[in-house]
Amino acid sequence: MNQDKKTVFSGVQPSGNLTIGNYLGAIKNFSRFSDEYKTFYCVVDLHAITVRQVPAELRRRTYETLALYMACGLDEKKNTLFVQSHVPGHAELGWILDCYTMFGELSRMTQFKDKSQKHSENINAGLFTYPALMAADMLLYQTDLVPVGIDQKQHLELARDVAMRFNQIYGDTFTVPEGYISPDTMKIMSLAEPTAKMSKSDPNQNAVVYILDSKDDIMRKFKKAVTDSEAEVRYSEDKPGVSNLMTIYRAFTGKSFEDIEAEFAGKGYGDFKLAVGEACADGLAPVREEFARLIADKAHLEAVMKAGAEEASYYARRTMSKVRRKIGFVN
Ligand code: TYM
Repeated sequence: MNQDKKTVFSGVQPSGNLTIGNYLGAIKNFSRFSDEYKTFYCVVDLHAITVRQVPAELRRRTYETLALYMACGLDEKKNTLFVQSHVPGHAELGWILDCYTMFGELSRMTQFKDKSQKHSENINAGLFTYPALMAADMLLYQTDLVPVGIDQKQHLELARDVAMRFNQIYGDTFTVPEGYISPDTMKIMSLAEPTAKMSKSDPNQNAVVYILDSKDDIMRKFKKAVTDSEAEVRYSEDKPGVSNLMTIYRAFTGKSFEDIEAEFAGKGYGDFKLAVGEACADGLAPVREEFARLIADKAHLEAVMKAGAEEASYYARRTMSKVRRKIGFVN
């Protein structure tokens, strides 16, 4: 193990089909760290059960999320790819950190407020302490850097506060992690309601483009995307629909906003939406193909998650033995 390398950790919940928001905001960026960092990419199934899941679907999506990591370019030999519930240290440290995270802090989390509104029939304790488990994910591996979308910023800051609090009480124990939020794609918006985040749990299928959507579906969804009553492709805060489409187009083509404005000057939104759909479908085509190949070989996926869990457990145990000693648990 290379002790000099800094550590990257990130996770995705297997709680729905993954969207181009998950792809552009997070997963696509993961592989850029594979060479220079020790990287842990986790399928966070413990987090997923804070909302009721159908068991067979949770199991299927856990395999799919792992296969998508790999289809998006994460080589299992260069990255530790694993499932959260396979490494008991997450739940264990999660409980411990619950005892160092304040009720008031958790009450301020906007995701908790949103989700308790959406799932008012199931406001469980896990939904409330979700951020402490997320802190445990990162602190367990002495993580330096956490690539995420901007929606996770508040959770990340809480994890930093908890790490510093623990370190203050017991002396240096945890590395205090920093976020890596890619400014170009930190928040991809819904196609139907462009002032809201694109979310895998959105019941409106037209609002969300999934990574594994067919080209026809992608084209249809972009054609229907909400824009505005002007007919000018221009990036502006008061044009959230068009600006979001420009952000997506830029991410898939590498063109700048100026280039895009010039390309569609004098043309209507119809042409523009078609181009965005094409660029997105073309960009995702190799991911879809690779995914189809990977998901067909369950035994290989199981071998990857097993090796990943073993590797992750090694690091997790090191942190846990330090934590237990500092707290005063009998060895
Ligand atoms: P999750 O599963 O909701 O989303 C996975 C990642 O995708 C990013 N993301 C987006 N980025 C840009 N635009 C969007 N519309 C968009 N939607 C989602 C998220 O920011 C995230 O990076 N709590 C986390 C999972 C987690 C985690 C962790 C992340 C658990 N433990 C430790 C980092 C470190 C979550 O629910 O992500």
